[in-house]
Amino acid sequence: LVSALSAAMSSAALADSLTVGFSQVGSESGWRAAETSVAKSEAQKRGITLKIADGQQKQENQIKAVRSFIAQGVDAIFIAPIVQTGWEPVLEEAKDAKIPVFLLDRAITVKDDSLYMTVVTADNVLEGKLIGDWLVKEMDGKPCNVVELQGTVGASVAIDRKKGFAEAIAKTPNIKIIRSQSGDFTRSKGKEVMESFIKAENNGKNICMVYAHNDDMAIGAIQAIKEAGLKPGKDILTGSIDGVPDIYKAMLAGEANANVELTPNMAGPAFDALEKFKKDGTLPPKIVRTESKLFLPDSAQAELDKKKDMGY
Ligand code: AHR
Repeated sequence: LVSALSAAMSSAALADSLTVGFSQVGSESGWRAAETSVAKSEAQKRGITLKIADGQQKQENQIKAVRSFIAQGVDAIFIAPIVQTGWEPVLEEAKDAKIPVFLLDRAITVKDDSLYMTVVTADNVLEGKLIGDWLVKEMDGKPCNVVELQGTVGASVAIDRKKGFAEAIAKTPNIKIIRSQSGDFTRSKGKEVMESFIKAENNGKNICMVYAHNDDMAIGAIQAIKEAGLKPGKDILTGSIDGVPDIYKAMLAGEANANVELTPNMAGPAFDALEKFKKDGTLPPKIVRTESKLFLPDSAQAELDKKKDMGY
């Protein structure tokens, strides 16, 4: 009992002394806001001081924030990388300063993967595939023209979600992507791009489904569909990723059809890995995978009820 108690006390003391700098993407989506809020509560639970820098969707701001965290001598740096490339120089600086880096929700491409400890992320190719597989089943051989609202250009999650969906529909010539453009993961841009798709496609009559890389863009698209006098969820089907409360509400109203949930708790597993590493040098696996599950309108109410405790 005494040794268990002293281990608990020393881990509490260790956690107390940790300061983590978190370079966040911005506040582009409901999911992002939830991720930030969960990160704060996970830090508080562990007695970790968390300093958050808002990147406002610009990699240059994130790089500046990381440099500032290095100058402050934080114990670890968390980054949710806006884009996949261009990280080597600043990560080398963190490595030289012996500050471990943990990636949250998006991946990067670097030649030397020792530049970061681990990436906590979903299988984003699978997320796109789950929506694509759902559509193939739903169409059952019938023709379907899809418009795609991509996430931020250069973001790993946008690249992977595009790939997974394209792979799923590749063997079914009845389903085609007729237009694809970035809506930058925001509600307003999603609406704007959808409006242009609708205009270009016979006032939306040529469109059978909108595949949005996140829920906020899908919600913007739903608005655009309604304003064009069409019924979202019926005249134009929707499929998107995140699981924010508003998408379940749209499902309950019959205006959204398929959704893949992404947990906003990316910081929790990163803190766990950091604490283990600080305690005895344990290296985490290079990827910590979070779950990806498809939800349809029949479980929307249950999912909405669960969201209350998840940072939303
Ligand atoms: O990286 C995760 C994605 O980023 C979420 O799906 C989206 O909402 C956010 O902007």
